[in-house]
Amino acid sequence: DMGGHDTYMHKEIHEQADAVDRALRGRIDDRFSTVHLGGLNLDARDARAVRRVKILGCGTSYHAGQIGAQMIEELARIPADAEPASEFRYRNPVVDPDTLYIAVSQSGETYDVLAAVQELKRKGARVLGLVNVVGSAIARETDGGIYVHAGPEVCVVSTKCFTNMVVAFGLFALHLGRTRDLSVADGKRIIEGLRKLPAQIEEILANEAQIEKLAAEYADAKSMMFIGRVRGYPVAREASLKLKEVSYIHAEAYPASELKHGPLALIEPAMPTVAIVPDDDLLEKNRAALEEIKARSGRILAVAHREQEKADHTIVVPKNEDELDPILMGIPLQLFAYYTAKAMGRDIDKPRNLAKSVTVE
Ligand code: M6R
Repeated sequence: DMGGHDTYMHKEIHEQADAVDRALRGRIDDRFSTVHLGGLNLDARDARAVRRVKILGCGTSYHAGQIGAQMIEELARIPADAEPASEFRYRNPVVDPDTLYIAVSQSGETYDVLAAVQELKRKGARVLGLVNVVGSAIARETDGGIYVHAGPEVCVVSTKCFTNMVVAFGLFALHLGRTRDLSVADGKRIIEGLRKLPAQIEEILANEAQIEKLAAEYADAKSMMFIGRVRGYPVAREASLKLKEVSYIHAEAYPASELKHGPLALIEPAMPTVAIVPDDDLLEKNRAALEEIKARSGRILAVAHREQEKADHTIVVPKNEDELDPILMGIPLQLFAYYTAKAMGRDIDKPRNLAKSVTVE
């Protein structure tokens, strides 16, 4: 039942405020400015013993993991990174007993992720799951984990599950941080930020008409560049994947800092750029990148916390805490991908050549 929406993608994009609310419900502990994660199976001593975090997933779940790794580094100051599970399992990885591994998956059935989990378990590693489907294979094979609570996601193209995964990583990073050096005040600041998310998501979705118009404006592009820096880079990668999957427009994602090392050669009026420009300590650096693009007559659509002069268009999103901004900045670009695909008459819920879960090699 699509409840009045024309596609599941549209419905699921609009379910995000409720989904995030569900991910937070019953988990926040105001007394100690931390969160309780029921099935984690990792006590304070275990949490303190973690020296590294390695996050594994595929596609959108990998991108959620990239944001998660940054959150863990920022809030818990534990070295963390994400890698495609599909690569990890084939490169005979060094498995380290002091590393905490996290397998991320909407379906909990993605074969590449499951195979990576099994290989890790065989080598004695501790593996947690960050999974949406309760009781799925990955949920069962991991030592514990965090349910994403996005609810059922039908569209092949993941939207609400991505957002909830990043929220779940935020909760986990806060939890790890509070077993270490994250102060009560910072814990409280993050909790307040998390609580603001559902209303801020509604605010972004209320701007749908502007995004629909912008999609029409850029739909003639043969190819698009997506850029971001540090927190914004995985957001750019995910937005680029969304556009590719659902509209079949070619898109590339690059760190804004890498533009001058090559991809700047591609910039011309027919290659528009979508830039993620948060109001954080890198704002001036990001503005400089916009200037470089403008100087090559590139069209720019910015997603930012305030109007960007150098951009041709800006989608303004509400500001949260710096660490949590990536949760919100991709949401307008889900709608951008949706409206672009719709204008092109694409099969939005079932893009060609793709399946909802890839349970084979
Ligand atoms: O079910 P999973 O999260 O393990 O699926 C992983 C990817 O196959 C999935 O995210 C894919 O990239 C989606 N089509 C993205 O929209």
